[in-house]
Amino acid sequence: MRLTVRPSGPLRGDVRAPGDKSISHRAVMLSAIAEGVARIEGFLAAEDCLHTADALRRLGARIEPVGGGTLEVHGGGLTSLRAADGPLDLGNSGTGMRLLMGLVAGRSFATTFTGDASLSRRPMDRIAEPLRLMDARVEGQGERCLPPVTVHGGTLRGIEYHPPMASAQVKSAVLLAALSAEGATTVVEPAASRDHTERMLAAMGAELTVEGLRITLRPGRPLQATSLRVPADLSSAAFLLVAGLLVSGSEVRAADVLLNPTRTGLLEALAAMGADLTIGAARDEAGEPTGDVAARASELRAVEVGGELVPRMIDEVPLLAVAATQAAGTTIIRDAEELRVKESDRLAAMARTLSAMGATVRERPDGLEIDGPTPLHGATIESHLDHRVAMCAAIAGLSAEGETVIKGAECIATSFPGFVESLRELGAAEIESSGG
Ligand code: S3P
Repeated sequence: MRLTVRPSGPLRGDVRAPGDKSISHRAVMLSAIAEGVARIEGFLAAEDCLHTADALRRLGARIEPVGGGTLEVHGGGLTSLRAADGPLDLGNSGTGMRLLMGLVAGRSFATTFTGDASLSRRPMDRIAEPLRLMDARVEGQGERCLPPVTVHGGTLRGIEYHPPMASAQVKSAVLLAALSAEGATTVVEPAASRDHTERMLAAMGAELTVEGLRITLRPGRPLQATSLRVPADLSSAAFLLVAGLLVSGSEVRAADVLLNPTRTGLLEALAAMGADLTIGAARDEAGEPTGDVAARASELRAVEVGGELVPRMIDEVPLLAVAATQAAGTTIIRDAEELRVKESDRLAAMARTLSAMGATVRERPDGLEIDGPTPLHGATIESHLDHRVAMCAAIAGLSAEGETVIKGAECIATSFPGFVESLRELGAAEIESSGG
């Protein structure tokens, strides 16, 4: 599919972005191994999370859509999962594959995981290493343990693990494996990554302690099924909010957005750039802070981001780069080398995309430097099978001169199936999708 975007008039109105992807993955996985029936309202019905739900079904879980975007999960307890009848295809979803590897590591059967071309290039050694320390056998392709990857589960032992990178996927895989290990497991992160797994495990009754960056899980307590409403995904809402900042005369209000502090780095960086953002009505959904966020068109200035802020905005760094093209001065993004192993090499993909549109971007080994403000012009862009790169190009295209064509835009459905419709509802009339 191709997406064609032409410059837009002011974007105005209220939107509710779809359910949070990270929380949807975790809710369906943990509910499958909890005891009792849980309803997950607002589950993200996008390809990534649907792949995870299908994989769990093939492992024996009972997961049923009951209408209105709600899933009902009949949890059978930790030991209810059984061997799948063949490889599990996780599509584009790194979170799905990595967390499920942890989930099955303590079960006495083998599970093979496969993925699409993008996921087949993503390293699974970061998961294989701690699972092997726990005594699981993990086989993948080559040194970096690329998919297809097979986890031969069995009796696990608790470990203390210090991951070399701040990664919620690594932390979560280890904690999920730890549920069925003998003895306590501790994960010590180098910097805080998103903490949804910890919050949800605690809400379901697991014995979990968090002391700063040190998380300890003591196995033994069964998880209790817990119904929840999934907040709107800040990582999706962010595209609409940044569009509101960049397109002159706009005001975009996003409702019910997840505002967990381990996820709000982009809002902090944009505020430091002088963005006119209002964050109101803090509420609590599923043990997670949420609220409404409004963005009005703003004159932006450059910012420097690095250190602990990066993991808290890891999926929004590409979008910050788009905003930086319109900010006065040189924006410097450092400590972001993890972006090179996402759905694409996002540093290279964003440098190429924004340069093709007329921006001045220099790629660093660990980030980007962007001079602004620079008027952008339309270009033909490759998605690199990366939903966030495709959506970034579309947002840049709304304020570029001429026509931007995004090839391979079907990948947007992995996280934000209603992306084009949401932009149209806000008034972006000049956005069309077509086959080919
Ligand atoms: C995710 C964690 C992040 C993020 C990904 C979702 C999660 O990856 O980039 O989109 O749900 O745990 P890392 O934890 O590998 O940085």
